[in-house]
Amino acid sequence: MSVTNRQREVAELLAHGRDDRVLEVGYGPGKLIALLASAGTVYGVDPSAEMRVQATARNRKKARTGQVDLRLGTADATGFPDGYFDGVISVNNVALWPDLEAGLRELHRVTRPGGRLVVAWHGGTKPSRITRRLRLPEPMLSRIQDALAGRFEKVDRHELRSLTAFRAYKS
Ligand SMILES: C[S@@+](CC[C@H](N)C(=O)[O-])C[C@H]1O[C@@H](n2cnc3c(N)ncnc32)[C@H](O)[C@@H]1O
Repeated sequence: MSVTNRQREVAELLAHGRDDRVLEVGYGPGKLIALLASAGTVYGVDPSAEMRVQATARNRKKARTGQVDLRLGTADATGFPDGYFDGVISVNNVALWPDLEAGLRELHRVTRPGGRLVVAWHGGTKPSRITRRLRLPEPMLSRIQDALAGRFEKVDRHELRSLTAFRAYKS
């Protein structure tokens, strides 16, 4: 399975351990799910039935054992209980949410106290030509950072190779 540097870098930011329960929001074809599932149990939500089929096929062995559990859902309606996850991650997804505040409210709700949320979007220090075109303008990035800071205890920004990422900690 091909794991890109982008996926490795952003997974490192989540810094999840073997016993952690992790949620990926907007898993798409499920490549990052495969990487995250190498340490612990991984859940995912995505509104696309087609992506669910693809991502489940990509992770079929672990989906069969329950180590990977991919569901239909959205950032603002994950369907999971309060404080269920040690870590939540969303890559190239946040700008697709119809309501930023509603999405962050939901992801804050499902993160346990002491847990963290990573939200990343195209950008970073070595973006490809395509990635450069998909970058968000700085005021939009500030809006995301401010919205995170309004709910989480601490937020830091990271410029990875091809992603701009925010990591937020829940107190
Ligand atoms: C560009 S793909 C990114 C997939 C994957 N995260 C990656 O980096 O390769 C965006 C994904 O977000 C999903 N999506 C769209 N709206 C969403 C929402 N409101 N909440 C969660 N996921 C959403 C789409 O179905 C799609 O699978």
